[in-house]
Amino acid sequence: MFSTLRPQIEEILRKRHETPETRMQEICQLLKNGIPHYDWVGFYFKNGNKEELKLGPYAGLPTDHTIIPFGKGICGQVALSNENFVVPDVKAQDNYIACSINVKAEIVVPLFVNGENIGQIDIDSNTPDPFNKDDEDFLEFVNKQVAKIL
Ligand code: SME
Repeated sequence: MFSTLRPQIEEILRKRHETPETRMQEICQLLKNGIPHYDWVGFYFKNGNKEELKLGPYAGLPTDHTIIPFGKGICGQVALSNENFVVPDVKAQDNYIACSINVKAEIVVPLFVNGENIGQIDIDSNTPDPFNKDDEDFLEFVNKQVAKIL
């Protein structure tokens, strides 16, 4: 599954006539449609020089959480830790921002440009405990490729 998606990601990112936003949007849709345990896929980016994240391209239901202060929720924690955050059970987290009652698990992987954490990819799953090392490797790959067009 992940191995067939990798070349498709690269192909989307090669579309130089499309804006980075459009290409990231296509990637969100590809991941949401192509991976059964990915129910919401989105990018958040540092909002200018503010200590907060702003929602970028995403696929899935609209969320109220378009701005997330650093430190708040899983996303806000990753903005500070610079590390992947895998949440097998969102109910077990106190610092968690719920987007939908159907979400059971979440994974957030930071996106680095020139070594700086400028954003992240965030996946919500309606399946309990669905993420493993393959997801982390794959999402790190996605972010490395996306970083090249930012
Ligand atoms: N659950 C996230 C908020 C973003 S939504 O999942 C889209 C968090 O705790 O940071």
